[in-house]
Amino acid sequence: MKKYKVGIIGATGMVGQRFITLLDNHPWFDITLLAASSRSAGKTYAEALGSRWMMKTPLPAYVAEMTVYDAVEDAEKIAPQVDFVFCAVDMKKDEIKALEERYAKLECPVVSNNSANRYVDDIPMMIPEINSDHIAIIEEQKKRLGTTHGFIAVKPNCSIQSYVPALAPLKKFGIKKVLACTYQAISGAGKNFETWPEMVDNLIPYIGGEEEKSEKEPLKIWGHIEDGKIVNADDIEITTQCLRVPVSDGHMAAVFVTFENKPEIDEIKKLWKEYKGEPQTLELPSAPKQFLNYFEEDNYPQTKLHRDLEGGMAVSIGRIRPDTQYDYKFVCLSHNTLRGAAGGAVLTAELLAAKGCFDR
Ligand SMILES: NC(=O)c1ccc[n+]([C@@H]2O[C@H](COP(=O)([O-])OP(=O)(O)OC[C@H]3O[C@@H](n4cnc5c(N)ncnc54)[C@H](OP(=O)(O)O)[C@@H]3O)[C@@H](O)[C@H]2O)c1
Repeated sequence: MKKYKVGIIGATGMVGQRFITLLDNHPWFDITLLAASSRSAGKTYAEALGSRWMMKTPLPAYVAEMTVYDAVEDAEKIAPQVDFVFCAVDMKKDEIKALEERYAKLECPVVSNNSANRYVDDIPMMIPEINSDHIAIIEEQKKRLGTTHGFIAVKPNCSIQSYVPALAPLKKFGIKKVLACTYQAISGAGKNFETWPEMVDNLIPYIGGEEEKSEKEPLKIWGHIEDGKIVNADDIEITTQCLRVPVSDGHMAAVFVTFENKPEIDEIKKLWKEYKGEPQTLELPSAPKQFLNYFEEDNYPQTKLHRDLEGGMAVSIGRIRPDTQYDYKFVCLSHNTLRGAAGGAVLTAELLAAKGCFDR
């Protein structure tokens, strides 16, 4: 596999830093360019960052010395220097939309962690194990953008990345209704206990916009391509409550589900065990070998014990049992900044690379 030159737009941010740690020594991708706001532009990455490095591993020396570009002003200079960019920026939605489209139109593919382009019907929103077939929509998107090479692919919100994987192999039973309560870590808000001391011994029952995303995004992932668009699934009802809990990393979900044709519990466990997507068959570098992991212990999965399973890219499930109002209930867990954010974007990029989408 040839090595691809990768730019990180929003490199100084929390997600940008996570990209740097995940891409350091990556077998297919080399970090060759960093960009952020005009506040950081022209400085070395270490200078621009100041005391903001939040990762547990040290900042790689070659990255510390790189000069940061201005993501907006320097777009024309950046695009020809890289094979694609990861994008995670804190800007207004319409500005992000315009910025990502600008890079795509400069023939630079964009793999985005931002939400601005998630609901555009010719932009794939990927959980690579579940909807790799949506990559086909990129050709339609290129026609709209007038590009031969540039396109945008996005990843979904971190809140859905435990229960959508757990439900994916069960779709064949006709999922009718889902209720999911998520218990979300503070790193999802870009915080830790030092920067958000109010979260120690506390729970906040509101995360702005999260319930809407958690109910809407699964329907796009389970949608199909028709007449040049991704058409959302319309046969599944989803309702959610999203709570912020005093946990550093790892989003847990308590899920209730009712089916058209109710399967047996053993059948469900077998499907979880056997479930594989293209990342597993293609043996992508960041793919977990076992995507869905069911634990028989009554008190598993636990956030602290299981969030880092397979580099934080695997999903842990437990406690499936019958419910009095729904067919079944269970719990599931995924690492919100790895599988749920930068790791999911890296896996998406690996899938796009394996399919030749970054080749000119
Ligand atoms: N599940 C997910 O996919 C997920 C998870 C977490 C976050 N996100 C999304 O990822 C994005 C970044 O989140 P974060 O937590 O990393 O934010 P952050 O820590 O606040 O970092 C923001 C980044 O954006 C850059 N930036 C701000 N204004 C800019 C401008 N006008 N032009 C160019 N760059 C600009 C900043 O550069 P300076 O340092 O120069 O200011 C910094 O690099 C957000 O859209 C967030 O919603 C997604």
